[in-house]
Amino acid sequence: MASHHYAFLLTSSLQLLLCFSLLLADDSGPSASPCAFPAVFNFGDSNSDTGGLSAAFGAAPPPHGETFFGAPAGRYCDGRLIVDFIAQGLGLPFLSAYLNSIEANFSHGANFATAGSTIRRQNATIFQTGYSPFSLDVQTWQFTQFKSRSRIAYEKGTFRDVLPREDYFSRALYTFDIGQNDLTSGYVNNMTTEEVKATIPDILDKFTIVIKSVYGQGGRYFWIHNTGPFGCLPYILDRFPIRAPEVDHTGCGTPFNDVAQLFNAKLKQTVIKLRKDLPNALFTYVDVYSVKFKLISQAKMHGFEHPLVSCCGHGGKYNYNVHWGCGSKVVVNGTEVMIGKACKNPLKRICWDGVHYTEAANKWVYDQIVEGAFSDPPTPLRMVCQRQAH
Ligand SMILES: *[C@@H]1O[C@H](CO)[C@@H](O)[C@H](O)[C@H]1NC(C)=O
Ligand SMILES: *[C@@H]1O[C@H](CO)[C@@H](O)[C@H](O)[C@H]1NC(C)=O
Ligand SMILES: *[C@@H]1O[C@H](CO)[C@@H](O)[C@H](O)[C@H]1NC(C)=O
Ligand SMILES: *[C@@H]1O[C@H](CO)[C@@H](O)[C@H](O)[C@H]1NC(C)=O
Repeated sequence: MASHHYAFLLTSSLQLLLCFSLLLADDSGPSASPCAFPAVFNFGDSNSDTGGLSAAFGAAPPPHGETFFGAPAGRYCDGRLIVDFIAQGLGLPFLSAYLNSIEANFSHGANFATAGSTIRRQNATIFQTGYSPFSLDVQTWQFTQFKSRSRIAYEKGTFRDVLPREDYFSRALYTFDIGQNDLTSGYVNNMTTEEVKATIPDILDKFTIVIKSVYGQGGRYFWIHNTGPFGCLPYILDRFPIRAPEVDHTGCGTPFNDVAQLFNAKLKQTVIKLRKDLPNALFTYVDVYSVKFKLISQAKMHGFEHPLVSCCGHGGKYNYNVHWGCGSKVVVNGTEVMIGKACKNPLKRICWDGVHYTEAANKWVYDQIVEGAFSDPPTPLRMVCQRQAH
């Protein structure tokens, strides 16, 4: 920023603040965000899917959504996801899924994430292995089309109240939370831990291509979550017990978390390289792994219980059964009975359905990351459009 701008900021910060709040009150709701991000475009997997997979492959059933929305809301959760808290924290509405044709409103962003998404394309269909066909490269094709077609439609004037303005694309925050499924898919394909580790460089090469593509289309502000400790999740512990002879004092499978941490170390290096290659962009790397692991390993201290047991599920050590997931029903004597039921108090639980976190856990994670304590650089969410002084 030029020095006269800086002086202007110092002398007129109050006027500027007033000006921002008026603008925001007019357009994007209450927010004191210095960046005034007008939109969020999200890419990822189920950790941030707000309705994509539900739109394409069948709606997430009740009791998903019960805590916050009062009904299923396209999320694999009892309520809000971290990306929902991010949108709210920036004073923006929840993100509509790009794939959702009903009641979608993209005026302040769009969500390209779907549950089961990977960075790399998979060689099997969703019906074989459960991984989404909307891999990260496909999500960016959708973004490309969203951007070009929304511009044409906006200019025609027909859908203006549900589309972003053209200048939003360069001012928006681009958020990413993806990679976990690339690692678990290695295990699903019967790879050893060493073999899974060997796939990480290729996964991150594909990630780099995608970031550069979004940059090429005007994206400048990138908020990138690392991957969580999936070795603490019931669906992994239940499915691959034999792969985790080593279990830590929390009960998490050590080899899985080692893989996640190696991925994260290399993701961090990738982000450093991206900063060099794209000096006009700003990247925030967010260590959600550490926050999630802290929550799980110190559950009691933070007011949570049974950190490794699914709230919604059907039996077994982890209240998780791959055949009878959260919301599963069976017909008994002509009557439908839900056997994938939710626990009594999801507000005290971390794991919602064996794969995903509860709204309470997501809120806890959001509160930890929003001020930048787990970010590199350590900038608060609302300020990540501003360059760090060196
Ligand atoms: C899919 O198969 C191709 C060709 O064998 C291979 O190069 C690629 O790594 C595979 N992708 C994944 C995600 O396993
Ligand atoms: C879409 O959201 C924007 C911003 O919240 C709002 O102004 C607009 O009226 C909404 N459009 C529809 C069709 O609901
Ligand atoms: C992995 O091994 C299991 C058990 O041997 C087998 O049933 C499955 O087909 C294998 N999966 C792949 C993708 O090779
Ligand atoms: C189903 O109906 C039969 C006959 O009325 C009864 O014996 C049985 O206990 C019922 N099963 C369940 C699970 O209610």
